[in-house]
Amino acid sequence: MYRSRITGLGKYVPENVVTNDDLSKVMDTNHEWIVERTGIETRRHIAKGDGNTTAVMGVKAAKIALERADLDKQDVDLILFATLSPDYYFPGSGVLVQEMMDIKTCPAMDIRNQCSGFIYALSTADQFIKTGMYKNVLVIGSENHSGGLDFSTRGRGVSVIFGDGAAAAVVSRSEEDSGGIITTHLHSQGKFAEELALIGPSTNRWVPEIMEANDPEDTSYYPNMNGQLVFKNAVVRFSEVIVEGLTAAGWEASEIDMLVPHQANLRISQFIQKKFGLKDDQVYNNIQRYGNTTAASIPLALTEAWEEGKIKSGDKIVLAAFGSGFTWGSALIEW
Ligand code: UT7
Repeated sequence: MYRSRITGLGKYVPENVVTNDDLSKVMDTNHEWIVERTGIETRRHIAKGDGNTTAVMGVKAAKIALERADLDKQDVDLILFATLSPDYYFPGSGVLVQEMMDIKTCPAMDIRNQCSGFIYALSTADQFIKTGMYKNVLVIGSENHSGGLDFSTRGRGVSVIFGDGAAAAVVSRSEEDSGGIITTHLHSQGKFAEELALIGPSTNRWVPEIMEANDPEDTSYYPNMNGQLVFKNAVVRFSEVIVEGLTAAGWEASEIDMLVPHQANLRISQFIQKKFGLKDDQVYNNIQRYGNTTAASIPLALTEAWEEGKIKSGDKIVLAAFGSGFTWGSALIEW
């Protein structure tokens, strides 16, 4: 069986910085509430006319990741695109990336697992490489949240949290006989599907039906979240899936050089940090600057940690995510 490793990372965030004070001008919220409950100070939103879409941002991040991996775009054997905010209802954004980057007609697959999307995609890339089917997989996480949020006071419990952005990783067959992606663990529990969801429009309720009802109280086309229930499940599932990964890898928590958790809420990250007895420099957070970028959040944090020299060869890295579905997962990497 082959080994796989991350050989290149890249990120792209829109230039438009939106502060908490900016949001307080359009809804009843304030900087203190947002920072105290989430840790978020700013996020990026696509600006009208800046040309960004979910796929466009993904391409910008992917080009940097490929360059850092020292690969040509034609070396890409598979594109995995994780998002909950694809450019179109169908087809997926992966095929748009294939065309925009002028990559040969390789397979392109969209992964629909929200905040766990990057871990699901990374695990999928790992399996394709370990079996020998592909050598180089381009994994992208990208989100355009701002286009679909309710920026009235009604939506404040959700809309202050999410930000736009993209990041990408090149996962390649390793020439070495140790290290790389050691183990990945994925879970889902559809019982809670509607606790964090965007329910309409859907195949059960197409746009004409919504338009005909013309109900101003209908918020089904905005993301809906039972924040407290999600929070409570998140801290439990994050812990479980990290322990599951550590056990499979045979690592102690004290051996973790860097934990990169999905950036959902700084308070969740701090809870996990305390639970595993990790020091501040063993956990990477950037939710303060970008908010929750869902499928982009882990690769965005991983890329910045790497760019800042906080990840070195041989380091033991733990990635962990929890989100809508519910879905959750972990990936343990020896860098
Ligand atoms: O990435 C996917 C996974 N997502 C998560 O993991 C998110 C998990 N959940 C959370 O992070 C938190 O539940 C939130 C940050 C979403 C909310 O924080 P909370 O401490 O659970 O607040 P809450 O929903 O219990 O709301 C408390 C109060 C309410 O007012 P009342 O009913 O006490 O008068 C809300 O209406 O805060 C109010 N509120 C706000 N106030 C100012 C809700 N949103 C806002 C806001 N600004 N933006």
